[in-house]
Amino acid sequence: MTDAKPLTGLELLTTTRSVRRRIDRTREVDRDLLLRCLEVAMQAPNGADEQAWRWIVVTDEKQREKIGACYHAANEQFAASVTARADAGDEAAKLKLASSGVFWDHLGEVPVLVIACFEPQPWFDGASPYALASAYGSIFPAVWNFQLACRLEGLASCLITSHLRFADEIAKIVELPDQFIQAGIVAVGHLIGSSFQPARRNPLNEVVRFDRWS
Ligand SMILES: Cc1cc2nc3c(=O)[nH]c(=O)nc-3n(C[C@H](O)[C@H](O)[C@H](O)COP(=O)(O)O)c2cc1C
Repeated sequence: MTDAKPLTGLELLTTTRSVRRRIDRTREVDRDLLLRCLEVAMQAPNGADEQAWRWIVVTDEKQREKIGACYHAANEQFAASVTARADAGDEAAKLKLASSGVFWDHLGEVPVLVIACFEPQPWFDGASPYALASAYGSIFPAVWNFQLACRLEGLASCLITSHLRFADEIAKIVELPDQFIQAGIVAVGHLIGSSFQPARRNPLNEVVRFDRWS
């Protein structure tokens, strides 16, 4: 861990951020460390304990480069519009450019890209709320467990999904079996610098009601 004193549970849960700028792109990550974090990932709840998660840990430089190119292509339009707004002085766009922008051009340099997938079970119809909630709800808790475990090991991470319109291209790059469905990629590397603060979120009274919404 990089923090001077151990994180409390509350600190872990409230200060684990999506890190892009402060992922060290020059330092490799130990394979055993990643496997330990994946063991923690798989302690997450999952529908009927089917454990349909599948993980591809991409560390090969050429493979990462190809995935980075897909991410760049998937974000091209968005990047152009954010850049134009930032150039026009929009402060929010400037912030986005400085954080999200790092991955648009450099995702392939991040030392580890963990592709989180699931193998659909026979009940998965691909569309009903039940199927979607049960399938994606069985992978994202594990993804978050993985990110929390990374944080405890001094690693920084960020979940990305905007490349998924290029999911077929990525499947070819990593030779994914046809039936697997990709949920996202967790970019991982050593954290540069120290910890983070809780993020600003909507006030509770805007988003929570008891018993009835109205
Ligand atoms: C489902 C999901 C998809 C995301 N996709 C992307 C993405 O494609 N690119 C990216 O830079 N960040 C992505 N993020 C990270 C969010 O931008 C980030 O969680 C959000 O801005 C809040 O920041 P925080 O995680 O640091 O609190 C994604 C997060 C989630 C949960």
